[in-house]
Amino acid sequence: MKLKETWAKLQTRKKLIDAFKSGEIHLTYKIDKDNKRLIFPKIHSVDLEKESTTITFTLPNGLNPDLLKKNFFAFQQHFGKNIELDGEIKKYSLTVYHTSMPSELRYNFEQIKPVIAPFSLGIICGKDRNGQYVAFDLLQQPHILIAGETGSGKSTQLRSILTTLIKTKKPNELELYLGDCKKSEFHLFRKVEHVQCVHSSARDIQRMLLHIKKELDERSDLTEMFEVSHVDDLPAEHRKPYLVVCIDEFVMLRKDELIMDILTEIVAIGRTLGVYAILSMQRPNAKVLDTTIRANLTVSMGFKLRDAMESKIVNTPDAHKIETSGRFVMNSDKLYEIQAPYLTMEKAKKFLNPFMVAKGSAKDVTDKPKELTEKDVFNDVN
Ligand SMILES: Nc1ncnc2c1ncn2[C@@H]1O[C@H](COP(=O)(O)OP(=O)(O)O)[C@@H](O)[C@H]1O
Ligand SMILES: [Mg+2]
Repeated sequence: MKLKETWAKLQTRKKLIDAFKSGEIHLTYKIDKDNKRLIFPKIHSVDLEKESTTITFTLPNGLNPDLLKKNFFAFQQHFGKNIELDGEIKKYSLTVYHTSMPSELRYNFEQIKPVIAPFSLGIICGKDRNGQYVAFDLLQQPHILIAGETGSGKSTQLRSILTTLIKTKKPNELELYLGDCKKSEFHLFRKVEHVQCVHSSARDIQRMLLHIKKELDERSDLTEMFEVSHVDDLPAEHRKPYLVVCIDEFVMLRKDELIMDILTEIVAIGRTLGVYAILSMQRPNAKVLDTTIRANLTVSMGFKLRDAMESKIVNTPDAHKIETSGRFVMNSDKLYEIQAPYLTMEKAKKFLNPFMVAKGSAKDVTDKPKELTEKDVFNDVN
């Protein structure tokens, strides 16, 4: 081992012991009136990596692990804010990140492309603390909830997720159904070939969802008829494109029972039918996110939230402590802290240009549903 490395390891050990001391993370035995012996956690290893250093240690029997949480400040005072403590009961590891997360990450498609290449519907999330891109497959982890205060970066994240999907999937593989309750975000997608419709009023979104509902029923029938468990296993002549329903600020629709019912159905049964939902909301509240919806949104991205209660509802601990736009806590297979790629409206337009087609209202499949008259639709609601 190089001398420099040995030295660095020793320094790290020393620093950790100092942290144990100042955080009073030790057992104390009185030997006699004037003498006592302190027993510190035992340090097993110090691993120096390029991006981070990880120290593994175990607590002596009898030392309450809650102390680590309670006096976490001691680690931060010695090692800085950019640290992570992991473990339970006895064995713990402290990771010290050398670089802090970038406060801005520009959207770079060339870098993103290989990251999502292995996936059927690759969702790009951003970069984690190690500087690694994080992405996942919507087929494996269906339905996403994106929550955060105004200005925290929800719409930007939707823009980068959708643009990435459009650039990597053909229109016959992926159909997008967009709802934009604030009328401010999705107009740039309107003419994109994959995009079936962009709606903003509750009434139009309801019609769009009724179309999806019909599609769900049809797909259920087909999978039953051919006795397959996933639409991807249907015979070639019945193959179906993936449908992604994406609604920005969907809370505005909460009073519409029919809309909420269909959304609940999509997240409950869409997975094997190739129908997925991505929903964003500004003020998560337990009423809107009823248990069925919440349980089925397998990924949540908590951008800056108002308070601990909201972080709890979204299932993204500490999201209320975030201070940077585009930064979020993601809860999927585990917890991540991520900086989202920043894709501006102008740059997105440039990326989307090659996918634009001339569209009249005729292209909008939900515009005038043949099977459903306005009367049917509104009878259902009342
Ligand atoms: N990933 C990001 N990186 C850097 N800045 C961002 C990012 N996302 C959003 N921002 C900044 O925050 C502003 C608001 O973002 P937006 O997505 O519209 O928030 P929201 O939809 O949550 O209200 C943007 O105009 C931009 O200045
Ligand atoms: Mg927005």
